[in-house]
This record gives sequence, C-alpha cells and structure tokens, in this order.
Amino acid sequence: MTAELSPIDKAKYVAARRAVEFVEDGMRVGLGTGSTAAWMVRCLGELVREEGMMITGVATSSRTADLAREVGVTVKTLDDVRWLDLTIDGADEYDPNLNLIKGGGGALLHEKVVATASDQMVVIADLSKQVDTLGSFPLPVEIIPFGWQTTKALIEELLSNVDVLGRSASLRLSGTEPFKTDEGNYILDLHLRRIAQPAQLSLILNQIPGVVENGLFLDICDILVIGNADGSVEVRDINNGTIEHERVDVIDTDNLFVDIRE
Ligand code: A5P
Repeated sequence: MTAELSPIDKAKYVAARRAVEFVEDGMRVGLGTGSTAAWMVRCLGELVREEGMMITGVATSSRTADLAREVGVTVKTLDDVRWLDLTIDGADEYDPNLNLIKGGGGALLHEKVVATASDQMVVIADLSKQVDTLGSFPLPVEIIPFGWQTTKALIEELLSNVDVLGRSASLRLSGTEPFKTDEGNYILDLHLRRIAQPAQLSLILNQIPGVVENGLFLDICDILVIGNADGSVEVRDINNGTIEHERVDVIDTDNLFVDIRE
C-alpha cells in the first residue's frame, strides 16, 4: 500500500515527524490526543519498531492509549512514572506567546495534568491553529455532572465581568447525550470570540466549585512545531526565543498505518 496523504494530513504528519526528533532513547513521553497527536504516536511506534528505541508513553486519553499499544509503544500510567521528560500534543489554537486553547477532543484535563508533569511540552500544529488573540475556538471547560446547569449559569454570570466578545456557553453533546470525558465529566464550550486576558479568565473559571479545569494552557508550551503540506516546518522555541525553518521528507508512510490496517 502506498499511503497518499491529504494536504492537511501531510502538514500534521511533518509536524509530528519533526517533534519526535526531541524524543531520546529511554524517555518517558506524554502522549497527546487528537488527529495531529495520533500522527506523533504513529511516528513513535515506528521509532520503537524500527530503531528499537525504548519509550514509555503516558497517554492523555483512552483512545491515544489504544493507538500507542497498537503501534508498539509501552503505555504506563502517570502514577507509574510520576514525571515525564517530554509531552507532545496538539492544540486547537496558539497565540504568539505559545499560549493555547486545547480540549476540542475532550481530553483537556488529562492533557493539562500530563503536560504540567513534564520537563518540556512540545506542541504540534498547522497554520490553521494560529491566532493573534485566543478565543475564536470555543473554550472547553470540564465540569462535574452534578448541578451542571447551575455551574453553567455561574460561568455565564462570570463572563459578564470579563473582557471577552461573546458570552454564551453550550453543553457538548455526543449524539443527543452529554459528551463524557474519560473522567466521566461534562464539557461546556464557551463561545468567547476574543479572550483579552486569558490568565485572569483561567483563574476565575477554576474558582467555580463545579469547574474541574479549563482548556487555556498558559505558559506551559515550550516548543511549537508548525507543519506545512509542502514538508516545511517551523520550530519556535519560546525559552530560547528562536525560530527555525526546516524541511521534513514526506516518506512512504506505509509503516505508519499499522493501526488502521485490517
Ligand atoms: C484534545 O482534547 C485537544 O486538546 C487536541 O489537542 C486538539 O483538539 C487538537 O486536535 P487536532 O490535532 O485533531 O486538531
């Protein structure tokens, strides 16, 4: 089989391929969730299978754990390993300071716990995720099911006092039922359009008792790898203040598809 990738998948693939170059033999790696992170997990699987690298993965969702096992990456719990060398994950939005909105896939809580327990967070994305100011992508907030409508009302009341352009919240659904996270919680998506003060918003959201965590990842990302369909990548390092432009060869991706072969 010769795997022909769509332009968007090529962009995700080259970002993932470049990001796994940060992984060294023996590392404990946080494995993000989403379609871009899935490419990264496949690339890690290839390193394990073809180069014999020893990698221990801590997955941020059950679907990432399933994929990691399928491609040959050893999966342990965060309690098994306690601390990680590196986490590689996708994002729904990134701004010029590498602050992020995450949680479009519903895994924001485990993603934030895992990224925070890592020496470094590398984010993989394409240019469609780039914004000047966070907020076009609805901000996911994980809340407990108990009294969720009260929590929603409290959040909407709070939003009337913060500098945002939109103020509605919607319960995320899976079909006709509330979407449930791996922790059994619900997600509210906040339609804010523009978040002028993300740090302030993050703090006050998390003070509401029914809120577990929000999808603002502030000062957590160290390196951003932006992939493009033509094989070019941009690597931004927020700590060094460097921006590198490189190329990744889009090789025959046959061996990356072990997870979707019959
Ligand atoms: C998962 O909960 C999210 O935080 C993902 O990282 C985010 O939605 C990016 O997903 P894609 O890579 O599929 O766009």
